Amino acid sequence: MTDLRVPAVIINFKAYSEVEGGKALRLAQACQDIAERTGVSIAVCPPATAIAQIAGSVNVPVFAQHVDPCKPGAATGRLTAHLLRGAGAKGTLINHSERRLRLADIGMAVETCRANELVTVVCTDTPSTSAAAASLKPDFIAVEPPELIGGDISVTDAQPEVIERTVNAVRRIDDGVRVLCGAGIKTGQDVKRAVELGAVGVLLASGVVKAPDPAKALADLVQFL
Ligand code: G3P
Repeated sequence: MTDLRVPAVIINFKAYSEVEGGKALRLAQACQDIAERTGVSIAVCPPATAIAQIAGSVNVPVFAQHVDPCKPGAATGRLTAHLLRGAGAKGTLINHSERRLRLADIGMAVETCRANELVTVVCTDTPSTSAAAASLKPDFIAVEPPELIGGDISVTDAQPEVIERTVNAVRRIDDGVRVLCGAGIKTGQDVKRAVELGAVGVLLASGVVKAPDPAKALADLVQFL
């Protein structure tokens, strides 16, 4: 199992029909092939139901899409950091735009992940919320303007200033917290631009998961890293 290095490309599988059943494992294997072929650090975030199977089958880091701010115990239906660790996850997204948490809950989620040696990627929407999240000392912040998520215009074209301002805001709070960006990222040029703007990598979904040929899309995405 390789760890997540930077520059990093994190692929969020979300709950798209393209990753239902055995299709999530096939996509994770395609990500592994590209990671091996190019040497680029790629992590995958399959649905929670597929984490254990995929973590046992591929050597790229497997992340969860969400963790609940709960300790092991009476927490029906919750995904604890301890459960994720036991399933083979190496890290998790926290506070994704489609799964928001309150600030106090983000703090507790980061803490329980740290206690379970899970890498934390806290998603945010603006430079200000990124600064607030940075004070909780996650490993990564991933800034994603919600209105661009799932669309065809990359954040690097539509709102490059959000990336630069987030990098600066986070650096002022804690320069050990690294910044990723996402929303609408689809091409190698988008990824190159993200790095030029100060991000250490990208978080993306539809550009790979919904592509007619995900392996080809991923190969294009990592070509300049
Ligand atoms: O988690 C990544 C995400 O929210 C961005 O989605 O489809 O715009 O790459 P997408």
